[in-house]
Order: sequence, then C-alpha cells, then structure tokens
Amino acid sequence: MHQVRPTTGDSNWFVNDRFGLFIHWGLYALPARHEWVKQREEIPGDVYDSKYFTRFDPDLYDPDVWAAAASDAGMKYFVVTTKHHDGFCLWDSKLTDYKATNTPARRDLIGPMAKAFRDRDMKVGFYHSLIDWHHPNFVIDDVHSMRNHPDRAELNKTREQQQYIDYLHGQVRELLTDYGRVDMLFYDFSYPAGSRGRAADFVGKGRRDWDSEALIKLTRHLQPDILVDDRLDLFDAPGGWDYRTPEQFMPRAWPTDDAGTKVVWETCQTFSGSWGYHRDESSWKSVDQLLRMLIEVVSKGGNLLLNVGPTGRGEFDDRALDRLQGMGAWMRRHGRAIYGCTAAPPDIPTPQNCCLTWNPQTRRLYVHILAWPFKQLSLDGLAGRVEYAQLLNDASEVFLREPTPHQLEMGGADAGAVVLDLPVEQPRVEIPVVELFLK
Ligand code: GLC
Repeated sequence: MHQVRPTTGDSNWFVNDRFGLFIHWGLYALPARHEWVKQREEIPGDVYDSKYFTRFDPDLYDPDVWAAAASDAGMKYFVVTTKHHDGFCLWDSKLTDYKATNTPARRDLIGPMAKAFRDRDMKVGFYHSLIDWHHPNFVIDDVHSMRNHPDRAELNKTREQQQYIDYLHGQVRELLTDYGRVDMLFYDFSYPAGSRGRAADFVGKGRRDWDSEALIKLTRHLQPDILVDDRLDLFDAPGGWDYRTPEQFMPRAWPTDDAGTKVVWETCQTFSGSWGYHRDESSWKSVDQLLRMLIEVVSKGGNLLLNVGPTGRGEFDDRALDRLQGMGAWMRRHGRAIYGCTAAPPDIPTPQNCCLTWNPQTRRLYVHILAWPFKQLSLDGLAGRVEYAQLLNDASEVFLREPTPHQLEMGGADAGAVVLDLPVEQPRVEIPVVELFLK
C-alpha cells in the first residue's frame, strides 16, 4: 500500500515498535548544562577532566530501573550514547583510558544496561559519536572544542586523522563484538564543507575523515541485521544508510528519498531542548505535547526516539519520570493505535483536528481526536466501509450513521461520509482514540 524504500538491515521490528528511548549519558551530566558544554564554553581538556572525569560517580545507577521506566512508558527499544562528542566512553574499551572504568564509577556501564533492556524484550541500539574532542589524533576543525585555540595549526601538524579512524573502527568492532546482538547503530555525525548551508571553506568532516565506506562494511559484517542511521555522509552509496533521522522538528509529511520514495524514518526529540541532563532548562514539553508528537509521527509512517538525560548520580530525574509515566498511562490503553501502525491509506482523508493511524494487518483505522468535537465527527469517504467503531480507552461502542439531510444541507458532512456519534463529554484520557474496524 505504502511503497517504502527497502533497508539493508532488518527494519521489520523497527516499523512495528515505533517508540524508543534515547539515552544521553556521560561526563556532561555533571556540569548539567548541555552535552556540548566542552565545545560551547571551549573548556580545555585538562580542566574538563579534572572537574568531571575524576568525579563521575553514578552511585544510584540501576539499569533495571531505567528499563522498567522505559518499558512502562510503552517504549520497545533503546539507544544509548556509548561515546558522545567529548570522547568519554561508557564501556571498558581496550583502546583508551578515557572510560567509565577509570572514573569513580569503576565499571562498564553498557553491558548491564543492554542486559536490563533485553530482559524486558526491548531492542538494543548504540549511539556512537564520530566526533571526538578528546582523541589526540582527531584533527581540530571548525566544530572542535579547540577550534579557536591560538596554536590550532601547530597542534594539527602532529595529528593523524588516519590514527583516529583506526581507533574509531576498532571501538566499533569492540561494541559490535562484545555485547551480543545490537539492533541499531546511530552514528553521529558528518558536517563536510558545503553541507546543510555550511560555507565552501568550512573546515568540517565527512566520509573521508571516518572512512565511512569501510566503517559501514565493518558494521554490517559484524552485525548483519543491524539498522544504521543516515549520518555517515553516505547518501549516494548503496547500503550507505537505512533510515533517516530528522532531529528536533516535525516533518510535514512522510520523508522521501531523492526519487520521491518514502523512507524508513525516526525523529529524535528531547524533553526540554538539550540531550544531556540539564538542571535549569525550563522548556519541558507536557505529556500532552509528547503524545501528540508520537501520534503525529506514526500518522506519517515514522518512529519516535525520545530522549532522557540521566543525572550524574545515575537516575532519571523527576521531570523525566513524570513524562514517561504520563505517556505510559495513555500507551497502556492506546498502544494498539501505535504498534504495527502506519499512515492511513492515501484515499482516506484526515478529519479536522485529528490524526489517523492504520494497522494494515488488522485493517483497523485509528482516529486520534486532538480537539474534542461537539457530538459528531464526520469521516469523509468512509460511507459503507466501516463495520464497527468503539472508543479505544474503554471499548465502548460508538454509533455509526449517515449524515442527516439537515447536516448535508448545511455543509456539516460530505455525502460519502460516515458520521460518528460521540459523547458530549470527552473521555477522561489525554487524547481519545476511536477504533474503526474496516470491511
Ligand atoms: C546532534 C548533537 C547531539 C545529539 C544528537 C542527537 O547531532 O550533536 O548532541 O547527540 O544530535 O541526535
């Protein structure tokens, strides 16, 4: 029905599961003012490390608690930052000392996490930063935390990007060998000159700086089913990416490739703006906004990867837990309108103030009602096509009828419409959903 660009990795589970947890965790949880803090404030490496590396001590970390919170929210997979741009590694990499085992944490934080989520039947994804502001051979560019260093050119003379490439590939080999099945890899990110509005003389990095072609080969060789994101700067390479990743905005329609074919996609979003734990941000989205986001994404055939930045003590803070619990309460009753669902068939128009999702297997259409109407909702083009309708939250019947002559005369409904008779009072759920059983 919807023609979607095939993926090299296995996307079957992905387009069914729809809702995942992103975790951004690292040293930047301690400054607690954005995961790019080292870059933004141009903090020298020795200062960053003497303040945060020596004090990273997540004594309250319990990955079972995290996995439970995510699973109760209705999430089916998770993606964790094994390393972010500051270069700090959460696992016991043999290739560096810059890792959790050498901080007061004194242990591998990734293995137990993967296990805890797997134990709850959730899929495992790794985010891995291509960028590294710690590695001594990573050539300083216009994005680097030392971009304005007076000795930049001098420092770069001894930096060998190839050495960094070897390190990057070596670490990916570790991650894809030592932790069992890894379902997704979220590489982040490429920024070559000329891309996304960057000037022609911008000093950035792209496929040659990561040897992306060899990296994706290695990735697929070690984990043949793995699903890989679109940030390796390999758009034109066959098998160079599996899914697109619009970040922190809502696409207007189902994203397509250059040929106009719909693609597998996932949008990643934050609760409050930054990805790492931010103590003072006051731009937190409400449960209602977040649910609308999830519904809208699925109505456009996509996935939502929603981020938590755990604290330096190793917990999800109260604001994050509040949002996760609120979403979970809705998902418990409305998950059927999300899992296994996609955009409605193109010949079914979306009613005003609604989003539609559709399960092609069960042939059920879900009308997510974003603004509760007065008594009736008219569904154009569905006359004679609906067998039965009910509110999803309590399985209470919704009467189906033809538009009255008066409604037709006054433009209250279309001739080919079926009309839903709704209660005047909105059901006491965040966003009510009507489940339609199509013939
Ligand atoms: C960006 C940012 C980053 C975040 C990521 C999530 O590219 O660099 O901090 O990890 O997006 O998608």
